[in-house]
Amino acid sequence: MMAADGASDMKPFALEAWSRLRLDQVERALERWVTADANPGCAHAAPAALVEAMRYAVLDGGKRLRPLLVLAAHEAVVSDSSRGAEAALRAACAVELIHAYSLVHDDMPCMDNDVLRRGKPTVHVRFGEASALLAGDALQALAFELLTPEDGSVEPAQQARLCGLLARAAGSVGMAGGQAIDLASVGHTLSEDALREMHQLKTGALLQGSVLMGASCGQPGAQALAALQDYGAAMGLAFQVVDDILDVIADSSTLGKTAGKDADNDKPTYVSLMGLARSQAYAQDLLAQAQQALHRSGLPNTQALAALADMVVNRAH
Ligand code: IPE
Ligand code: IPE
Ligand code: MG
Ligand code: MG
Ligand code: MG
Repeated sequence: MMAADGASDMKPFALEAWSRLRLDQVERALERWVTADANPGCAHAAPAALVEAMRYAVLDGGKRLRPLLVLAAHEAVVSDSSRGAEAALRAACAVELIHAYSLVHDDMPCMDNDVLRRGKPTVHVRFGEASALLAGDALQALAFELLTPEDGSVEPAQQARLCGLLARAAGSVGMAGGQAIDLASVGHTLSEDALREMHQLKTGALLQGSVLMGASCGQPGAQALAALQDYGAAMGLAFQVVDDILDVIADSSTLGKTAGKDADNDKPTYVSLMGLARSQAYAQDLLAQAQQALHRSGLPNTQALAALADMVVNRAH
């Protein structure tokens, strides 16, 4: 029930309790799927060293924000969350695999040249550059393997929808395109429009894609879908604005990655363009836009999405 001033008189949404169950489910699924025998029908075994690097990159670490967004969006668009649950869990893990691969490559010497990720040495530091490159490649492929099970558990049309959404979010007009702009922008001052475009592609696209993949596991109406798209765009951009802020204000042990890296690498960021205070205000503005979009969706069950957007903007790491 909503009070007259618009404030809810219900108990605040318990994100931690909601997340616990889903994180456990995602963790167990990743543990099961990122293995040497992920393809039981296949005559060949995956090389053990490659699988070791893949598992190192994926398991035991990370906030798992993208999987949570997939599951929250799925729950927002269905009245019975068991409908489409297998597709949603596969989508949740697939998007995390793409994310993990993007981090492995992002950390390589040819990109950001980072030695610390999720509190551990980066994959190329631990396994060498060639293995890091290949682990990333194989994780990307595995994401699409997860979306196309051969056991009939996900309808072919649904498989195709999920593959299309993930491919577009990860490709040249999504994450990879944004990373290309990022590398080409080192040492340059970007306009606000150009910086927004870069952040929307390199990070926003996969976060928005997570929301759309979750929604595609149900049947949202046109108004709800458009609103979720707006929610994903605002929350996705906010995520990278906050990542830029945390690079400046947090320390390496809190972040689990090297703080101060953007300035060291001469990257254009929101903080370098508009300063800390204006970047923080912009992130709050984007959060308000994301929450307004959820109101516009007309969906009854968006509390988890709302709480995740709040977490994105008000997080410490
Ligand atoms: C870090 O993403 C990389 C960016 C896209 C900025 P996260 O902050 O979600 O990293 P993990 O998954 O929690 O390690
Ligand atoms: C990376 O952005 C975005 C990706 C697509 C991986 P950053 O380079 O800012 O991410 P961090 O700060 O290293 O996690
Ligand atoms: Mg980078
Ligand atoms: Mg980086
Ligand atoms: Mg960063």
